Amino acid sequence: MVDTITSAPTAVDATKEDKWSSQMYSKHASFVPALGAPVVQLLAPQPHEHILDLGAGDGVLTLDLEKQCQSVVAIDASTDMIDAARKNGCQNALVVDGHDLVDHELANGQFDAVFSNAALHWMKKDPVRVIQGVNKCLKPGGRFVAECGGYMNVVEVRTGLHWALKKRGYNPDEYDPWFFPGVQTYRKMLESQGFRIESIELIPRLTKLNTDVAGWIDTFGFSFLKPFEGDEKERRAVIDERLRFKAVKA
Ligand SMILES: C[S@@+](CC[C@H](N)C(=O)[O-])C[C@H]1O[C@@H](n2cnc3c(N)ncnc32)[C@H](O)[C@@H]1O
Repeated sequence: MVDTITSAPTAVDATKEDKWSSQMYSKHASFVPALGAPVVQLLAPQPHEHILDLGAGDGVLTLDLEKQCQSVVAIDASTDMIDAARKNGCQNALVVDGHDLVDHELANGQFDAVFSNAALHWMKKDPVRVIQGVNKCLKPGGRFVAECGGYMNVVEVRTGLHWALKKRGYNPDEYDPWFFPGVQTYRKMLESQGFRIESIELIPRLTKLNTDVAGWIDTFGFSFLKPFEGDEKERRAVIDERLRFKAVKA
């Protein structure tokens, strides 16, 4: 795959209003933490370690980490997700936006590792600021181990959503909440904030959904659906948009 990004980050902040639903997440997207096992292996948590889980969601992976290390702090920008994480049994779960980490009391150089699964690509407003926050949380020699959507991730459904909005007179870039960096882009960002890269790769992955693409868009595409709030018919039409035609030979 080509190693660049499609567009520069814009000012869209999909988490300003909490549109995350932990109920929808566990119904349509429990494959996300289930597919996080390889990144937990890469982290290789140790029994004495203190770990920060950035964008922890409903805490399924956090609980897995808790069993393997001394303590885990789960943070997430969504109140609904953090409430679910607490209900699921996470000991320390806090509502914190990744962009605010740099000024947060957690950024005190006490963590052995910062872990993140499927969350960094949502932190589009200022990805470098997020990395700065991670750096400030870590002890010297601490590790940052993460997986997120990369270049060309969900390209078909993203293109479909752009097209559906454009057709209706909206500028899709204003509603697109994702930042899917290529390897070189993210490598440079990490290095610019004082990290030495041990490994970084773009891994193509076909994902079997829990339900279907409509359920996926309902769960993750809320930013694109914002213009249609209050108009359920149009909202549904965008989710269900398909190419359908009838052609007659001239
Ligand atoms: C796809 S979920 C992944 C959750 C969890 N890590 C997992 O593997 O199940 C992405 C999470 O990122 C969180 N998120 C999005 N933007 C964020 C931000 N700016 N700061 C912190 N968390 C954010 C969302 O609220 C959501 O819980």
